[in-house]
Order: sequence, then C-alpha cells, then structure tokens
Amino acid sequence: MPKAIIYITLILITAAAVPPALIAQARAVHSSKPRIHFVQDMDNQPRYEAQHANPLFADGRAMRPPVAGAVARGQLGADDHFERGIVADQWAVNFPARVPVTMELMQRGRERFGIYCQPCHGAAGYGDGMVNVRAMELVNLGTNGTVWVQPKSVHDDDIREQPVGRIFNSITNGVRTMPPYGPQIPVADRWAIVAYVKALQRSQNAADLEGTP
Ligand code: HEC
Repeated sequence: MPKAIIYITLILITAAAVPPALIAQARAVHSSKPRIHFVQDMDNQPRYEAQHANPLFADGRAMRPPVAGAVARGQLGADDHFERGIVADQWAVNFPARVPVTMELMQRGRERFGIYCQPCHGAAGYGDGMVNVRAMELVNLGTNGTVWVQPKSVHDDDIREQPVGRIFNSITNGVRTMPPYGPQIPVADRWAIVAYVKALQRSQNAADLEGTP
C-alpha cells in the first residue's frame, strides 16, 4: 500500500476525533456566548432596536413618530371645559361637571399643590417657596449672573380675580417664565390644584368676598 494512503488515513482517523471532542467540550464547559445555531428557522431575525438609526427614512430614525394629527384611542380630549378650561371661547368660571368640588378633591389638591407648586409658590401661595429663597440667595450673591423672576403670588388682585379656567390653563401650559405642568400632572389633578388654589386665595382674602358664593 502506498505510504501516502496510510498517512492520509491516519490523519483522517485523528481528525475524526475532533468533532466528538468539541461536542464533549461544549457539553461540559459553560459559555456566555449563544450556542451555535445552524438551522435558523427564522429564530434570529434582523430588527431595529429602540433609538437605532435607519437610513430608510429621511430623518434617519428607526422609531417612527406618530403621523401629524394622529389621536390615540381614548385621548381625543374633546371636552374643552375639562381638558382646556374653556367654555364658549372664554375661560371657564365653574368647575367641569365631572369634577365635583368635594373635600376629597381639596385634599388631593392640597397634596398635589405641595408637590408641584409649593417649591416655587410657597405653602400659602405667596411666591416665597424654597426654590425662590435659594434663587434670591444666588441673585444677591451674583452667582454666575443668576437671573430670577419671582413666582407670582396667587393672592395678587389680578390672579385672585382670574376664572378657574385661566388658572387651569396656567398650570397646563405655563405662563411667561413659569414652565407648563400639563405633561406631568393629569387633568383631574390639575382641577384639584385649581380648587386648592381657590381655597388658598379665599383663606387670605375672606374679608373681600362680600357674600360672593
Ligand atoms: C419652577 C417654579 C414654579 C412652579 C413649580 C410653579 N410655578 Fe407658578 N409661577 C412661577 C413663576 C416664576 C410665575 C410668574 C411668571 C412670570 O411672571 O413670568 C408663576 C406664575 C403663576 C401664576 C400666575 C399666572 C398669571 O396669570 O400671571 C399662577 C396662577 C401660578 N403660577 C400657579 C401655579 C400652580 C398652581 C403651580 C403648581 C401646579 C405652579 N404655579 C408651579 C413659577 C412656578
């Protein structure tokens, strides 16, 4: 028999031991890599992850923004009084029918006011919250040229006379230097805060009311 055949046979026999050895090793050794997957059967499909780029679209984003004007189910918000504080193109003077002014609403309003408004406007609404205190310190020290507009007191005449719808709108969309809180505070809670602001105003101006309900 030619030597070459003997050598080749020996090499093949030795090589034949490699796959079983690899399999045995794979069964015994732990690995953090995914196992080898010869038959794909669509198990791993190409896909875009959140925030990834996709050259298919002009803006290069894989995540698509909703079509302009799209409204999600249940989010039409057609009730202008409730959603925007507007009745017949004017600021609403009353609370929407679906927001009964109860003690529960007041309590909720007080709690939410404490969370969202008090830091700037102060517990009693005079515009003297801790953020204001700190900002005034920085202004007086001239730190980094701090500029600060004091939060308005809700007891100023012009604010006290505002209809509830207007206060609701100030919370929702912000006003001048005050940022909007609509994105953070659900609609019903904004009305609860309005109720509490009204209660705060009355607490400081009871003598001025002259029998108004
Ligand atoms: C980050 C600080 C800050 C927070 C928080 C804040 N405000 Fe204000 N608010 C201001 C400032 C500042 C002004 C005055 C804006 C101006 O005159 O430029 C203001 C003005 C107002 C006014 C007067 C609006 C007008 O018509 O002049 C009302 C009412 C008011 N805030 C209510 C609220 C309520 C209710 C909350 C809680 C949901 C709240 N604010 C949270 C800073 C804040």
